[in-house]
Amino acid sequence: MKKVLVTGANGQLAKCLQDVVTENPTSNYQFLFLDRSQLDVSRKELVETFFFSNQIDFCVNCAAYTAVDLAENEAELAFKANADAVKYLAEECAEQGATLFHISTDYVFDGKSREPYLPEDKPNPINVYGKSKLEGERWALELNPRTFVIRTSWVYSPYGKNFYTTMLRLMAEKDELNIVADQIGKPTDARDLAQYLYDLIVSENHNYGIHHFSGPDQMSWFEFAQKIAKENGFTTQINPIPTSEYPTPARRPMWSVLGD
Ligand SMILES: NC(=O)c1ccc[n+]([C@@H]2O[C@H](COP(=O)([O-])OP(=O)(O)OC[C@H]3O[C@@H](n4cnc5c(N)ncnc54)[C@H](OP(=O)(O)O)[C@@H]3O)[C@@H](O)[C@H]2O)c1
Repeated sequence: MKKVLVTGANGQLAKCLQDVVTENPTSNYQFLFLDRSQLDVSRKELVETFFFSNQIDFCVNCAAYTAVDLAENEAELAFKANADAVKYLAEECAEQGATLFHISTDYVFDGKSREPYLPEDKPNPINVYGKSKLEGERWALELNPRTFVIRTSWVYSPYGKNFYTTMLRLMAEKDELNIVADQIGKPTDARDLAQYLYDLIVSENHNYGIHHFSGPDQMSWFEFAQKIAKENGFTTQINPIPTSEYPTPARRPMWSVLGD
């Protein structure tokens, strides 16, 4: 039986992967979902100890510092979780011959393109979160030859705090919402990404390197909010606003459509 370690088990992607695993029982793979309290991946000694006592075949790194705005003031924490931790995991995976699936982001790009970003395009992150994620990608690819870097974008699910759950809450509370209409990306259902990861694992795919996985449709946050309202029967009035009317500590790429 092959062993699959999933880190960051309390996050939305890991929870969706847990759902996929539960619905596709297999005796060939044993999945081990560990949350931060069980394995803090930013602590080298804990990662080493875990791998010393466990032989792993696949590691799906869903752990990440994902607070894009807070990261501007907590760069050290962001780099610890998004870069240093990936280094530790990649080193241990390399030693054990394990495959590492490292999840990354469209925010490694600056958003100046108007053509979908391809895996081989040059990253140029414009915020601390994006910089920390790019460094993590580089460690993963440099240290473990069996690495998949899966970049995704605008991830949503019913779990935790994300744009989808925030909109549902706000739409239940308010009659009117102002939503940014000049940032364009591809919303990605975490469940679809989890299924994609699961399929890569069980198919024993060896097409290592950088891959892009995002939802099928590109849209603005405003359009995404309209879609969420429609699908959930809300009549909230949604007004389009420019980014300049919704200032945030972290700059975001204006156009971060991923292509593959
Ligand atoms: N959300 C998006 O829109 C988006 C877009 C593009 C890419 N991604 C990437 O997709 C991946 C999954 O993101 P997500 O949306 O599932 O994020 P999430 O819901 O914020 O989950 C991240 C999880 O990582 C855990 N974590 C943070 N630091 C850790 C550490 N040092 N050790 C162990 N666990 C730690 C967090 O634990 P706590 O619960 O204890 O805080 C949290 O449960 C990440 O790599 C992210 O960068 C996300």
